[in-house]
Amino acid sequence: MKWLIIVIGVTCLFSKDVFAQENADDAKEVFLSEKCQRCHSISAINIDVTGQKVVSDLSAVGSRHTGEWLVMYMKREVAIDGKKHIKNLKTSGANIEKLAHWLATLKRK
Ligand code: HEC
Repeated sequence: MKWLIIVIGVTCLFSKDVFAQENADDAKEVFLSEKCQRCHSISAINIDVTGQKVVSDLSAVGSRHTGEWLVMYMKREVAIDGKKHIKNLKTSGANIEKLAHWLATLKRK
């Protein structure tokens, strides 16, 4: 019986990783298709800015904000220093959630 529990346990752990990875891939796709890289680099995963200047690098944005806060910021419901985010996302709420929660996992310098 013990082995069965181990097998189930390992399977669950593994599928959680797969899920997290798929989510990250989707979120990265949203980031790129919404052209966030026009203003933001994520040097930790080799995304470079394509625009004229770098506004900021988001490699460690998750150590500054939570996923919940980022969802609100992406929906322009909260501001930084009185300024709402410049970009008005045209994508679905589900994509915004995905994007924001993925950004919250970025904690590398
Ligand atoms: C036209 C330029 C521009 C585009 C495009 C843009 N942003 Fe921003 N973003 C800014 C500016 C300006 C700020 C506020 C100043 C700062 O963070 O340095 C900001 C701030 C942020 C912050 C907060 C950063 C922090 O360190 O607190 C996040 C997160 C963010 N943007 C994510 C995104 C995402 C995701 C996209 C794509 C959907 C995007 N941005 C597209 C200009 C842009």
